[in-house]
Amino acid sequence: ATKAVILVGGASRGTRFRPLSLDVPKPLFDVAGHPIIWHCLTAISKVPSIHEVYLIGYYEEHVFRDFIKDSSSEFPDLSIKYLREYQALGTAGGLYHFRDAILKGRPENIFVLNSDVCCSFPLNEMLQLTHERRAEAVILGTRVSEDAASNFGCIVSDSHTRRVLHYVEKPESYISNLINCGVYLFRADVLFPSIRTAIQRRADRPRLGSYRSSENLASSYMFDEEDTQKNEVIRLEQDILGEMADTNLFFVYETKDFWRQIKTAGSAIPANALYLQKAQQSGSSELAAPSANIKAPVFIHPTANVHPTAVLGPNVSIGPRVTIGPGVRIKESIVLEDAEVKHDACILYSIIGWGSRVGAWARVEGTPTPVTSHNTSIIKNGVKVQAITILGKECGVGDEVRVQNCICLPFKDLKRDVSNEVIM
Ligand code: GDD
Ligand code: GTP
Repeated sequence: ATKAVILVGGASRGTRFRPLSLDVPKPLFDVAGHPIIWHCLTAISKVPSIHEVYLIGYYEEHVFRDFIKDSSSEFPDLSIKYLREYQALGTAGGLYHFRDAILKGRPENIFVLNSDVCCSFPLNEMLQLTHERRAEAVILGTRVSEDAASNFGCIVSDSHTRRVLHYVEKPESYISNLINCGVYLFRADVLFPSIRTAIQRRADRPRLGSYRSSENLASSYMFDEEDTQKNEVIRLEQDILGEMADTNLFFVYETKDFWRQIKTAGSAIPANALYLQKAQQSGSSELAAPSANIKAPVFIHPTANVHPTAVLGPNVSIGPRVTIGPGVRIKESIVLEDAEVKHDACILYSIIGWGSRVGAWARVEGTPTPVTSHNTSIIKNGVKVQAITILGKECGVGDEVRVQNCICLPFKDLKRDVSNEVIM
């Protein structure tokens, strides 16, 4: 059997996702009509050998309860459980901490997915590569522009054999434009011993690690494995993958399909567009039927109320109980639960927060970024601003007011035109 782990992180992370993460934990934020991690689960549900999925993170216990309940009925072949770290243990530390649960039933392979990525998750293809090459580990890779590469884990591979020769997390100088997508497949009998070795190595040679000096200092007093585990994070990227590249049995599966990171709140807009396009290509019945006023792909929640003269799309998601008035124009945007958009308003490249109100003839707009860009900020008048305009929960935009490239914290009322600002 195979199992899957989704690394969901915790409340102290996701600060770049503000103001949206103030009200909903990032993994549960809706893109293309579903929580970010629902898209991961959907991909996992298409791997026949997977019956157990763990969400590992350090959010409070209740956070994922409803999501797990709903998903368990939607994906009846999957048992889904949340395993809570008492503190951030790192991307490998969490896995190691819960190794007994994960290894129960003796799974042969384990998928590990970062929750904050958007892609087509070619898991079956990764599994096939594992079998073909008798791989111990397979990492999903994608090509990005040379200047974007240093923000990610970088992979040097043999283009013929697809062997990973070298792995460096966020290297300072350029080594490769093939980057780590945050999706892995590990042989269970290799993964946990590797993490154990990394923990041991750190305990034995605490001062030689590439860790911050305060951590070095702390670890030099601790040689007991349990203590080390408690006080330090162990990361797949820094502590495990580099070593695995020395084994010859570590391979990369390069996806030619879409891939984006979901870090900043604004990055929900490209993710929304990509998942909507994917749903469109697969002929999903969830999408609104295209028409003169609906430029596909568009998702409209069944409980939303959209006036027939409103023009929506492409790449628009309308949440539950949203009201869209006559003559409204919305494109490349997400409108969240209970928001109201009055007649003739125009919303472009924006996210409208839960319960927000946009007045008549108002304009809320961001700026398009190149489709290939992995950056959600742009330079306007010499200053760096977020390309996507975001209204937090329960904001108000007055009639005829124009809001351009702004991030607006919850509960703000905008009565005059604003641009290139963070409104606090
Ligand atoms: N359970 C748990 N515990 N999850 C964690 C922890 C932790 O202590 N720390 C991070 N995560 C989760 C995050 O929620 C996210 O889903 C994932 O692990 C990776 O987050 P980061 O550690 O912040 O890494 P990153 O996003 O900057 O970079 C990683 O992802 C890139 C692709 O998006 C690296 O794997 C890069 O190499 C990779 O290119
Ligand atoms: P195409 O995409 O080629 O059709 O042209 P476009 O980008 O100019 O128009 P689109 O309908 O795709 O989306 C943006 C357009 O919405 C603007 O260019 C305006 O024509 C229209 N628009 C701008 N402001 C408002 C407004 O306040 N209310 C309404 N209803 N529409 C507006």
